[in-house]
Amino acid sequence: MNAPTFDPLSDNFARDPHTAYAMLRDLPEPYYYRDVDSWMLTKASDVEAVALNKTMLRNRDHLLSEAERKDAQRKMNWHDMPHHERFVQTNLLETEGEPHARLRKLVFREFTAAMIARQRDTIQAFVDHLLDGLKDRDAFDFVEDFAAHVPGHIIGRVIGVPDEDCPQLRIWSENIVGFFNVGCDDTDKHIAEQATKEFYEYLLTLVQARRKAPQEDLMSRMVEHRDAGHMSEDQLVATTMLILMAGHGSTIDVLGSGMHALLRFPDQHQKLRDDPALINLAVQEMFRFESPLPYFHRFATEDTEVGGRMFEAGTRFGVLYGAANRDPERFDMADQFDVTRSPNRHIAFGGGTHFCLGNHLARLDMDVIFTTLNDRFASIELVKEPTYKPGLSARGPFTLDIAVRRR
Ligand code: HEM
Repeated sequence: MNAPTFDPLSDNFARDPHTAYAMLRDLPEPYYYRDVDSWMLTKASDVEAVALNKTMLRNRDHLLSEAERKDAQRKMNWHDMPHHERFVQTNLLETEGEPHARLRKLVFREFTAAMIARQRDTIQAFVDHLLDGLKDRDAFDFVEDFAAHVPGHIIGRVIGVPDEDCPQLRIWSENIVGFFNVGCDDTDKHIAEQATKEFYEYLLTLVQARRKAPQEDLMSRMVEHRDAGHMSEDQLVATTMLILMAGHGSTIDVLGSGMHALLRFPDQHQKLRDDPALINLAVQEMFRFESPLPYFHRFATEDTEVGGRMFEAGTRFGVLYGAANRDPERFDMADQFDVTRSPNRHIAFGGGTHFCLGNHLARLDMDVIFTTLNDRFASIELVKEPTYKPGLSARGPFTLDIAVRRR
C-alpha cells in the first residue's frame, strides 16, 4: 500500500485538516506517522477505546529504567529544561495510576457544579465589559480583540490571580504549550523553558500570599491541601499551571472556530437566534465540529489489538479527537455543523482517566458569550476568511475579522 501524504505542518492541513483525517480514517488500518513515531487513530471507535483503556498510558515513564526514560526524553528533545521537566513534564496530565487518581480527586472536588455556576456572573460581567469597550467599533477581530481576553481572566479569577496579571497568563501558557506541536525546535524549547520558569516564580509568590492570607479561591484551597500533606509544593505549582494552561488557548481557539462556524452556516446561526435555548447543543456542536485540542497520545503497556491489528507493548498511538469527532460512522452528516445535533457523543474533552477537568467551565464561557453576542448584535458578518493555526495539537483561527450591527 502506498503511504498517503500526511503533512500536518502544511498550509493545506491548516486550511482543512478534515480531508486528511478522512483519508486516514478510510485506510484499512491505523496510519503510522514516522515524524512522531505514532500510529494515528482517527475512527471514533478506536480513539474512544484507547482513551478508555486503562492499560494505555499517556506517560509510561514509571515502567522504564532511568536510562530508558532519559533516552526517551532526549528523543523528544525534552531534556535540559529543568523547570519544564519539573512542572510540565510531570504534571497531573503526565501522571498515571494511583498518584494520578489521588491528585485528580483532590482537584476535581474543588471543581464543583456550585463553584462553576458561581462563575456565571463573573463571566457575564467581564464579557459585558469587553463588549462595552468595543461599542464604537462596527468591525473588529473577534479573536484578538475579544476571545483572547476571556479564558485567562476567568480561569485566573478561579485560581485567585489578580485581574491585572491575567493578560500575562496567555503569554506564558501559549509559550509553554507551543512546545508540544509537531515540528517545534530549540528556539521553541528555550521559550517554553523560560516561560515555565517565570510562571513558576509568579505562582510561588501567589502561594506565599495565600498562605499568609487565604481567600475564597482555588489557590487558597490548594495551599490548604499542601499544608495538610495531601500534595507536594511542586504538585501544587504544576497543577495550577496545568489548569491555567489547559483551558486557556483551547477556549480561545474554540471561541474563534465556533464563531466562524456560525458565520459559515448562517442557517444554523439563525436557528440559534430563533431559539436561544439551543445554546447548550450549539456549544457541544462547536466542540465536535472543530475540536480545539485535536491530538493527544497514548502508550500501550501490553500487547493490544487496536483497529483490527495487534500492536506490541510500548507502541505509541496518536489519538486524534478532532478526527474522531468527524467520523461518519458515529455522526450523521459529520461535516455538517448542526446546532440541534442530539445526541452528540463527541470526544473533544477526551475520555477515561484523564477526562477534562474544566469542561463545564469552558462550556459555561461559551454559553454566556454566544448568548450575549446574539442579544447585543442584530447581525454578525464575516469580513475575511480566517487563517487557521498549522499543526496537529491546536485547532483555531489566528484572527477572525467580523462586522457587527447593534440592535
Ligand atoms: C476549552 C476547551 C477544552 C478542551 C477542548 C479540553 C480538552 C481536554 C482533553 C482532551 C483532555 C484529556 C487529554 C488526554 O486525553 O490525553 C483534558 C484534560 C484536562 N483538562 Fe481540559 N480542555 C478544555 C478546557 C479546560 C479548562 C477550562 C480547564 C481548567 C479550568 C481544563 C483542565 C484540564 C485538566 C486539569 C486536564 C487533565 C486531567 C487529568 O489528567 O486527569 N481544561 N482537557
